[in-house]
Amino acid sequence: MVSSKCFFHNNPFHVSDKKIERLKLFFCLWILMLLPTCVKPGLGENDHWDGVVVTESDFLALEAFKQELVDPKGFLRSWNDSGYGACSGGWIGIKCSMGQVIVIQLPWKGLSGQISDRIGQLQELRKLSLHDNLISGSIPSSLGLLPNLRGVQLFNNKLSGSIPPSLGYCPLLQSLDLSNNLLTGTIPDSIASSTRLYWLNLSFNSFSGSIPAKLTHSDSLTILDFQHNNLSGSVPNTWGGSVKSGFFRLQSLILDHNLFSGNVPSSLGRLSELKEISLSHNQFSGTIPNEIGTLSRLQTLDFSNNALSGQIQETLGKLHNLSVLILSRNKFSGHIPASIGNISNLMQLDLSLNNISGEIPISFNTQHSLNLFNVSYNNLSGSVPTLLANKFNSSSFVGNIRLCGYSLSTRCPSPAPSFGVIASPPKLSQQHHHMKLSTKDIILIAAGALLIVLVTLCCVLLICLIRKRATSKAANDRVVTRTGKGVPPVVGGVGEVEEGSGEGGGKLVHFDGPMAFTADDLLCATAEIMGKSTYGTVYKATLEDGSEVAVKRLREKITKNEREFESEVCVLGKIRHPNLLALRAYYLGPKGEKLLVFDYMHKGNLASFLHVRGPETVIDWPTRMRIAQGVANGLFYLHSQENIIHGHLTSNNVLLDENTNAKIADFGLSRLMTTAANSNIIATAGALGYRAPELLKLKKATNKSDIYSLGIILLELLTGKSPNESMNDVDLAQWVASIVKEEWTNEVFDVELMRDASTIGDELLNTLKLALHCVDPSPSARPDIQQVLQQLQEIRPVLSSEDY
Ligand SMILES: *[C@@H]1O[C@H](CO)[C@@H](O)[C@H](O)[C@H]1NC(C)=O
Ligand SMILES: *[C@@H]1O[C@H](CO)[C@@H](O)[C@H](O)[C@H]1NC(C)=O
Ligand SMILES: *[C@@H]1O[C@H](CO)[C@@H](O)[C@H](O)[C@H]1NC(C)=O
Ligand SMILES: *[C@@H]1O[C@H](CO)[C@@H](O)[C@H](O)[C@H]1NC(C)=O
Ligand SMILES: *[C@@H]1O[C@H](CO)[C@@H](O)[C@H](O)[C@H]1NC(C)=O
Ligand SMILES: *[C@@H]1O[C@H](CO)[C@@H](O)[C@H](O)[C@H]1NC(C)=O
Ligand SMILES: *[C@@H]1O[C@H](CO)[C@@H](O)[C@H](O)[C@H]1NC(C)=O
Ligand SMILES: *[C@@H]1O[C@H](CO)[C@@H](O)[C@H](O)[C@H]1NC(C)=O
Ligand SMILES: *[C@@H]1O[C@H](CO)[C@@H](O)[C@H](O)[C@H]1NC(C)=O
Repeated sequence: MVSSKCFFHNNPFHVSDKKIERLKLFFCLWILMLLPTCVKPGLGENDHWDGVVVTESDFLALEAFKQELVDPKGFLRSWNDSGYGACSGGWIGIKCSMGQVIVIQLPWKGLSGQISDRIGQLQELRKLSLHDNLISGSIPSSLGLLPNLRGVQLFNNKLSGSIPPSLGYCPLLQSLDLSNNLLTGTIPDSIASSTRLYWLNLSFNSFSGSIPAKLTHSDSLTILDFQHNNLSGSVPNTWGGSVKSGFFRLQSLILDHNLFSGNVPSSLGRLSELKEISLSHNQFSGTIPNEIGTLSRLQTLDFSNNALSGQIQETLGKLHNLSVLILSRNKFSGHIPASIGNISNLMQLDLSLNNISGEIPISFNTQHSLNLFNVSYNNLSGSVPTLLANKFNSSSFVGNIRLCGYSLSTRCPSPAPSFGVIASPPKLSQQHHHMKLSTKDIILIAAGALLIVLVTLCCVLLICLIRKRATSKAANDRVVTRTGKGVPPVVGGVGEVEEGSGEGGGKLVHFDGPMAFTADDLLCATAEIMGKSTYGTVYKATLEDGSEVAVKRLREKITKNEREFESEVCVLGKIRHPNLLALRAYYLGPKGEKLLVFDYMHKGNLASFLHVRGPETVIDWPTRMRIAQGVANGLFYLHSQENIIHGHLTSNNVLLDENTNAKIADFGLSRLMTTAANSNIIATAGALGYRAPELLKLKKATNKSDIYSLGIILLELLTGKSPNESMNDVDLAQWVASIVKEEWTNEVFDVELMRDASTIGDELLNTLKLALHCVDPSPSARPDIQQVLQQLQEIRPVLSSEDY
């Protein structure tokens, strides 16, 4: 079930029921005073505010718990009655099942004082979340008495003392986050006893001693973060245990800023799910084990500030998903493997402050994704590949005496053969002569090839220019006669202005807008591919005057014939709304090519805006909410005014302008396609995780399937997760629903948002409710777009005037 029952239990609409429930309770209390629980038939386990009176033992424990805390902001004032409110929603931060407390959740409440040892009395407690307070004292060892304890979130407090080994007696413990406290002592062996533990964050404390070997055998651990402690010794080389064919889930191994020494364990190679290894700021020595090169999912590898030496393995180049490789401040020698230049996703490469020699491989000339590159202070030589030299300033290359070509003052000697000998470094020894000649040959050949390419390019340009001159003159003449001026026609309202083009016989039709270009301008524009979609390829075209447009080249085979196409496209060209991407013009080529011209959106699409960004780029809640409302607004207009079903709304189809206003793209395009093409498109769109479940059978998109897609986009904004990300084979909607059902609601939200949870908590929760409502498996249960829009505006009223 997606709209989980337990979740909607918090629904304000149920308040009146609750009051009645409390009255009933009261009687219940009097009649059954001496019974430990007051069981009401028909209630499921998940009915947390179940209107059942708290047991006496739990009541006393809660009282003691309150007693030992200091609550300057008075959040616990609601814990004021003799217990009947504890389990019926009256006591803030408490949830119960059958009269027993299962959740204590009081983050960001300014609480200080200590955690009472009496907490061990809450036998059903599953979750203890007190993070972001000022609580001191030690972690009660009585937590070990709680057989159902699953989550302990005590991070960002002032807890001291050590981790009670008894925590290992909680067989169901899943998540333990004690980070950013003042804890000391060693990490107890027992902590690894729970076979469910997947999240262990002990970072930013003063733990000492070594990593218990037992932890390295865990097949449930997914996140292990011990950064910024005082841990030492070597890291056990027993990752993945002794089992040969086990499945190990570890994704993040974060051990930076400690005192670890010894080798980097080769057994890490067994952890096939690893995405991030951070061992920086330690004292690791030896070489990088070859096995690291087998971790094909790896995205981040940071070994900086250690004493590692030897070659940088060629096999690292096999890590196709690698985006961050930081090896600075070590003692690496040898060459930079050419294979690293081939890693297509690489964004950061820092090899500075090592002893690396040789040349920077020319494979880096194909490396377009890099945004940080640093090889400073090594022993590199030769010329810097032009792409790197153009992109990065000298601070990325300095400290390599024999490296040239990265700044004006380090120009490389001319490659011309007659100067070769003079220009080569003075100390070049005889042995290298033979090799030098062959490099020279290569350079010559390359230069020759370049020349040919350049000449061809010049010819093409020239032809293009001549053609353009001839035709645009003709076109301009025509324009002059229409408008009396040299500027292209802009017709009031959404008119259509047809502009024939010269020789080719193609036809460009403008709908409106500020665009001033002729068919030839468009065809001669410099274009780069932005992406491919089911309907065709999208280019960013830069016109001669510097303005930019997005051009979609439709796949010819799947479009309707010209006449039908034109009548449909004219309808689309008239749709104007601030949250819908405007179609400005279309072009029909003489050979049947069909181009659609749209406004160019500088911030790209929502998917990459959310999912492809550095850790330092934070997207705050107001921005996300504004995007959500924008999308809802656009969809509302489509559904209500234009009677258009989008059919494949995804975060890839939501574009953002320079002010981060959302614009829905790709709507109505199905009208330009043949019927056969359309059913195919619906079938394939399913893979993307936005497709409503009923489309499996139905094959025809509806308003309600659009709402489903919108719900997924809302979930994406809330969780920061992409629906394409794998979450143990469940889709985003199922994943969120399962967590919410398990009472881990806060865990679904993007951690970035949780920083402000004290002020926006309710908004997050209400938006989550709405999103889950939208992704209800049953189409009829989903709200319609007007309700969605209205609720979003109630959750966070946004000034919309500035957007329009
Ligand atoms: C207890 O606290 C609740 C919420 O703060 C309040 O509405 C109620 O009146 C209080 N009851 C008593 C007996 O003080
Ligand atoms: C662990 O906790 C620290 C401090 O609270 C936080 O900065 C870090 O991101 C957490 N680690 C992970 C993997 O979430
Ligand atoms: C770290 O451990 C060393 C001894 O190994 C000790 O001298 C030092 O004070 C500890 N530092 C902290 C911050 O605990
Ligand atoms: C990159 O990661 C994805 C999932 O995160 C995985 O499916 C893919 O196989 C990885 N690429 C390689 C080359 O292993
Ligand atoms: C890098 O990629 C190119 C083209 O795909 C290939 O020819 C070359 O062999 C690769 N080099 C290495 C070192 O993997
Ligand atoms: C740097 O590497 C060279 C070999 O390439 C070696 O001879 C030299 O000793 C190394 N220097 C340092 C400081 O490690
Ligand atoms: C730099 O590399 C050369 C070999 O390319 C080596 O002879 C020289 O010793 C290295 N210099 C240093 C300071 O390590
Ligand atoms: C070089 O670029 C970096 C950012 O990539 C910048 O921080 C630095 O100031 C620049 N240095 C110089 C000398 O321009
Ligand atoms: C490159 O690394 C050096 C040494 O760590 C550092 O001083 C410099 O700022 C870095 N440059 C860039 C662009 O990161």
